[in-house]
Amino acid sequence: MITMKKRLVRTVMVIAGVSFLCLYVNAQQPKPWDVPAEYKNMKNPVAKGEESNKAGLATYTKFCASCHGKTGLGDGVKARMLKDFPGDFSGDYFQNQTDGEHFYKTKFGRNEMPKFEGKLSDENIWNLVNFMRTFKK
Ligand code: HEC
Repeated sequence: MITMKKRLVRTVMVIAGVSFLCLYVNAQQPKPWDVPAEYKNMKNPVAKGEESNKAGLATYTKFCASCHGKTGLGDGVKARMLKDFPGDFSGDYFQNQTDGEHFYKTKFGRNEMPKFEGKLSDENIWNLVNFMRTFKK
């Protein structure tokens, strides 16, 4: 009897463990986010370089790092309280998007990603877009 119970407990624990792992892995997958073509193909009006990166870093530290993490890995202090994974800015999925896509997503947000329209100027958002390129692996 006792061993049966033990085996049952062990089985339940393994099933629970595997389910949590699947949920965790699934939560790390980005959900498709369509960006209108006019934004996707938008030309970045702010030149890339030291000056823009510096401005981007300052804004990023103040408004973004709490969720996205200092180095853009999605590991900020608030990240574990979020339902959705904020993304890994060092990886291909992020870096293969256009500047316009990053601009659109930052400006208008979605669900737990706050919108920064009205809070940050377009120029500031483009500085962020430039700065986020420095996270590339
Ligand atoms: C409260 C937490 C939070 C803050 C603060 C935050 N974000 Fe996000 N961000 C998220 C979450 C969560 C997602 C994923 C949203 C989704 O997929 O629906 C996201 C997604 C994004 C994406 C899209 C990533 C991709 O690969 O599609 C960009 C770009 C982005 N954030 C930029 C920023 C910038 C720039 C700032 C600061 C100005 C910022 N975020 C501040 C939580 C946050």
